[in-house]
Amino acid sequence: MISWKNFRKEPVRRRRKSVSSDSPNDEKRTDFSFTGFDESLLDLSEVMIEQAIGYVGIPLGLAGPFIVDGREISIPMATEEPSVVAAASFAGRLLSKHGGIITQSTEPVMTAQVFLEGNLDLSSVKKVLDSRSDIKRHLQSTLESMESRGGGWRGINARWIAPSKTLAVSIQIDVRDSMGANLLNSVAEKVRPLLERITGGEVLMAVLSNRSLDRTASARFSISACALGNAGLNGKETANRIVRAARVAREDPDRAITHNKGIMNGIIALALATGNDTRAIEAAAHSYAARYGLYNGLSQYWIEGDMLHGVLELPLPFAVTGGAVGFHPASRWCLKQLGNPDGPGLSRIAAALGLAQNLAALRALVCEGIQKGHMSFHARRLAYNAGARDSYIPAFSAVIRSENIRSREAATERFATWNKEMNAETG
Ligand code: HMG
Repeated sequence: MISWKNFRKEPVRRRRKSVSSDSPNDEKRTDFSFTGFDESLLDLSEVMIEQAIGYVGIPLGLAGPFIVDGREISIPMATEEPSVVAAASFAGRLLSKHGGIITQSTEPVMTAQVFLEGNLDLSSVKKVLDSRSDIKRHLQSTLESMESRGGGWRGINARWIAPSKTLAVSIQIDVRDSMGANLLNSVAEKVRPLLERITGGEVLMAVLSNRSLDRTASARFSISACALGNAGLNGKETANRIVRAARVAREDPDRAITHNKGIMNGIIALALATGNDTRAIEAAAHSYAARYGLYNGLSQYWIEGDMLHGVLELPLPFAVTGGAVGFHPASRWCLKQLGNPDGPGLSRIAAALGLAQNLAALRALVCEGIQKGHMSFHARRLAYNAGARDSYIPAFSAVIRSENIRSREAATERFATWNKEMNAETG
């Protein structure tokens, strides 16, 4: 179990040591080396993408502690943005003291789409639906191994798109722990000739839909409003302001986009850490936010008595196998760190993280403002730019903050004298 007491204040090398010694066996420790720089990542880049010339090291943080569905976890997050991991940790810790976060998820059902055109009309919808048993039988061999894992065929639909005179056929497949893109595309392509025979039309294209409406996860919490006091505001007033801020995000699309970006700060950081398809998850989330026509905030908050309640629901097509997931060693390590959840389990953790991230951002926004938190992270960057490394980064950023140093030039100049003093002291 990680000791969170001084975790955030320790230098990165010591933090790495404590996380790797937390690992019970050598295999786990070797995997952890892939979260740092390693020559073998060049070979990995070569087989993961085309024309690789290297890799970009996005920082990996560990946020926590979180209590999700009664279990204590720490959540790996890969992100380039300062304050995101701090905010998630802040809300995770706060909610953990008040019962934690409860989550739910649907079955992981995704949709393959086949579009047909030609000599077709509305009656081709019925032709497809009448042939559902033949279509299901035709796909048996493609779906065999998914069915052995409890997934597979879940249904078929057809829709006539009048303006373009196109027939859209949707096949629902339970993809269990995978993201499902390969299987869905195979299904869509396998069924092409059969659909052409059934309808007399011609296939324009066949591919999965990333909408993922049937693959949602939700998270909720209830916390005593008193626990939310901040920057001179009492807890009840803070909770009230959070409710009003979330309401604005449901009524004003311009605000909703930023509100949801804050939620995705957490979800995408977890997706990246675990090797999931960040674009698919982002696209599904934003289409869900606009499902009623107007782009909406994804979370809701309300007060009952002395309690603030928060809830977040969205499509979260997270996988624990396939693609880069479980192939990239850092992704494998991150999944182990989470206790090797199944696909829906990882989606539920993502929903919990997104909700916590949103709560922290709203609390900061409606109290002291977002910039205050950012300034201390800015000081750390200035310290780094001035030349500080390892344990000198927090030490010199404290100097920057106390002396209100603003520019890189001033920081570099001050670092030269401070560094000399420190070296003289340590002798
Ligand atoms: P604070 O109250 O000044 O923090 O908040 P604190 O120093 O009193 O520490 C409180 C706790 O926060 C700590 O407990 C940690 O759990 C955590 P402790 O360990 O002291 O017992 N914490 C940290 N954890 C790890 N590393 C750190 C660290 N600092 C605090 N360095 C805080 C500071 C940053 C948490 C707060 O200001 C906050 O939550 N801000 C929101 C930051 C945020 O959302 N950033 C994302 C970028 S902005 C954005 O993209 C989203 C947005 O636009 C979305 C929207 O508009 O809705 C805002």
